[in-house]
Amino acid sequence: MHVARRKVKVLGVMMVNLFIFILVEVSRNSGQDKDGSRKVIMPTKRFWKKQVASEAYWNREQQKLDYIYNPILTVENGSSTELPDWLNDTSRLDSCDPDFSVTTKVKDYNSLPGRFKDFLLYMRCRSYPMVVDQPHICKDKPFLLLAIKSLAPHFDRRQAIRESWGRAGRLANRTVATVFLLGNATAVDHFPDLSDMLRFESAAHRDLLVWDYRDSFFNLTVKEVLFLEWLDRRCAGATFVFKGDDDVFVNTHRILDFLKGLAPAKAKDLFIGDVITNAGPHRNKKLKYFIPESMFVGQYPPYAGGWGFLYSGDVALRLHRVSRRVSLFPIDDVYTGMCLKKLGLVPEKHKGFRTFDIEEKYRNNPCAYKSLMLVHSRTPQDMIKIWSWLIDPGLNCQ
Ligand SMILES: *[C@@H]1O[C@H](CO)[C@@H](O)[C@H](O)[C@H]1NC(C)=O
Ligand SMILES: *[C@@H]1O[C@H](CO)[C@@H](O)[C@H](O)[C@H]1NC(C)=O
Ligand SMILES: *[C@@H]1O[C@H](CO)[C@@H](O)[C@H](O)[C@H]1NC(C)=O
Ligand SMILES: *[C@@H]1O[C@H](CO)[C@@H](O)[C@H](O)[C@H]1NC(C)=O
Ligand SMILES: *[C@@H]1O[C@H](CO)[C@@H](O)[C@H](O)[C@H]1NC(C)=O
Repeated sequence: MHVARRKVKVLGVMMVNLFIFILVEVSRNSGQDKDGSRKVIMPTKRFWKKQVASEAYWNREQQKLDYIYNPILTVENGSSTELPDWLNDTSRLDSCDPDFSVTTKVKDYNSLPGRFKDFLLYMRCRSYPMVVDQPHICKDKPFLLLAIKSLAPHFDRRQAIRESWGRAGRLANRTVATVFLLGNATAVDHFPDLSDMLRFESAAHRDLLVWDYRDSFFNLTVKEVLFLEWLDRRCAGATFVFKGDDDVFVNTHRILDFLKGLAPAKAKDLFIGDVITNAGPHRNKKLKYFIPESMFVGQYPPYAGGWGFLYSGDVALRLHRVSRRVSLFPIDDVYTGMCLKKLGLVPEKHKGFRTFDIEEKYRNNPCAYKSLMLVHSRTPQDMIKIWSWLIDPGLNCQ
């Protein structure tokens, strides 16, 4: 111990000496002119990237936020005289009233599919009333919080998760907490009225978080920001967070093993999943992930597929803070990638995340799941079956 400390001390003194030496050398070589006056070197060009103005609606909305939070990226040279009108119009940027100006600002608005119209009208709204909360859930600070995106009618998926990989409590000597994230399965989308059953489920399990907004594919980003807000308020002490879908199998044991072995520096910035790089918007109208050019132009940042990703509580809090500076985008996992990029973080690909499943011949082999973190997709029965394989003390894999 003492020897080690002395070594550190000696090393420290050496470092300081080296630093002073460099400092002296640098100032001797470049800091002085012949007449002894200091030369200050000014960059001749701008060293940050100025954004190019875009016609696409999302890009413009984003530029407005950039203008508010970081004007240097937007304004040419300190004078604001050259601000275009659309950029200066930063009123009502977080309003929850329908924004009818989109009907003229988005040039092909009238010919867009309904889901885009719905999204655009409410794109600025980030807060909806919470109708079911679970203030108790993080009283016992969780090491791992499992946040599962679900839909009201998926009762069987939620129950299978509770009975298998998502069981809350102690696991491998760590505290695991589980919440299901729900919006409203509304009559507009022809859902039956399930409110009685949900009330029963909520009272029985006390693990549902429900907000009053329309639970649709393009509103998954709303689910993301509402969850981050909730986490900041109710569960800021969670060490790690897994967020994913309700049709994946998660090997919680493997995840806990992995997390326990992480170095603190690595743990702080952790964000892993099945990361997609060099992707951009699909322009084919028939695809689920179609995004029109009038709405977004450019590449997507690296992002982890929304089936499931694992990150630190610290990153979650940073994501919440930065999300206010990123305009809502209709694809939730791309949106999270955009927020990470703003934070200067890059999601890391981990081969334990098998969002495109494993080879068919291994699917019934218990040992195939041992070293995986996530497999997509699995039915509720599969989840219970695979979990029973994994917790069997007799399971012997080489
Ligand atoms: C800003 O740039 C314009 C030309 O683009 C120039 O006319 C103006 O003087 C500049 N303003 C300042 C404050 O440098
Ligand atoms: C921006 O808008 C405000 C009022 O909304 C106006 O007072 C101001 O002059 C505008 N600035 C520019 C540069 O257009
Ligand atoms: C369980 O974890 C606690 C700290 O959280 C530790 O003190 C204890 O030694 C652990 N027990 C086992 C069996 O690992
Ligand atoms: C959500 O459902 C409740 C009934 O359970 C209904 O009163 C409310 O209007 C719905 N909200 C939306 C946004 O459709
Ligand atoms: C998102 O939810 C809001 C509030 O319920 C709703 O008005 C809007 O139409 C929804 N957007 C989409 C794309 O479904």
